[in-house]
Amino acid sequence: MSSSSSSMDCVISSSKDNEKEITPPPLNGAAAWWTGDTVAVVTGANRGIGHALAAHLAEQGLCVVVTARDEARGQAAAAALRHGAGPPRGAVRFRRLDVADPASIAAFASWLRDELGGLDILVNNAAVSFNEMDTNSVEHAETVLRTNFYGAKMLTEALLPLFRRSPATSSRILNVSSQLGLLNKVKDPQLRSMLLDEAALTEGDIEGMASRFLAQVADGTWRGRGWPEVWTDYAVSKLALNAYSRLLASRLAGRGVSVNCFCPGFTRTHMTRGLGNRTADEAGRVAAGLALLPPLHLPTGKFFKWRTPQLYSKL
Ligand SMILES: NC(=O)c1ccc[n+]([C@@H]2O[C@H](COP(=O)([O-])OP(=O)(O)OC[C@H]3O[C@@H](n4cnc5c(N)ncnc54)[C@H](OP(=O)(O)O)[C@@H]3O)[C@@H](O)[C@H]2O)c1
Repeated sequence: MSSSSSSMDCVISSSKDNEKEITPPPLNGAAAWWTGDTVAVVTGANRGIGHALAAHLAEQGLCVVVTARDEARGQAAAAALRHGAGPPRGAVRFRRLDVADPASIAAFASWLRDELGGLDILVNNAAVSFNEMDTNSVEHAETVLRTNFYGAKMLTEALLPLFRRSPATSSRILNVSSQLGLLNKVKDPQLRSMLLDEAALTEGDIEGMASRFLAQVADGTWRGRGWPEVWTDYAVSKLALNAYSRLLASRLAGRGVSVNCFCPGFTRTHMTRGLGNRTADEAGRVAAGLALLPPLHLPTGKFFKWRTPQLYSKL
């Protein structure tokens, strides 16, 4: 499959959405609500979109906590941000964090509390996919779900008590997700209506969906059951992340923390084997703009496709 006709690409170009694009104000200048004490945590920041995003946040003068599951790769990535071509204005810290490991999450949360006293921004960016562009193996489904959905959820829940929730800044969570996990990719009508019923949907329902998928993978019956058809395990992980983000946004409404998702579109990174329509730097810049939206313009419960908020229920 060529880069110009990949499945991810088609998803983007076939979009019928006409929601208004949000253009964040220029990051420098009067719109800046943050200071050097504003703490932003980015997961999977040793490469790809996470690294670029961390670089843009550091450039803006925030204190950025670069995290990575591999100590050496993470240290090198943090050093590159500190000593790169455009040196950051803000502090760059590094801490090891494997989002798929509860013990690593607990150790990170303690360090963050003791060392920095809390955080203002969490970007759940770390994720895995084991498929080539045109394959759909579910051999690693358990790792994919554990990292992309449960990892982001476990980390978020562990860090929730540490958000500063200052009215002047408004704490925020940005979950880097994918359109492959939007509801229109689900063909199972029961699953669609469960996910659409916002009043009744629970976290237990979302975890039940993930467990059901993994059980079907284990007994080899997952095909033809109405799951998303492109990169199925990855898409289910993002479907779950999107649904959890929406529930969390409702749970935290009026409590000083916004929760949004961002899909960077088809981006040239390791995950896409270097194929894509844009660079990690371009995606990181847009993600940083969304993470830094002024408190008054900061929505919650939205899914941004690039800069355009989409409706989850758009089918
Ligand atoms: N690229 C695209 O076209 C595209 C499209 C839509 C959405 N996205 C999303 O964008 C985000 C960034 O992806 P990318 O394209 O930049 O991919 P990438 O270059 O493969 O980067 C993924 C990052 O996640 C880290 N990671 C994986 N498992 C981890 C774990 N258990 N704990 C901590 N970190 C872990 C990786 O670390 P290691 O180096 O140690 O593996 C790496 O730093 C992901 O959420 C992805 O789903 C990407």
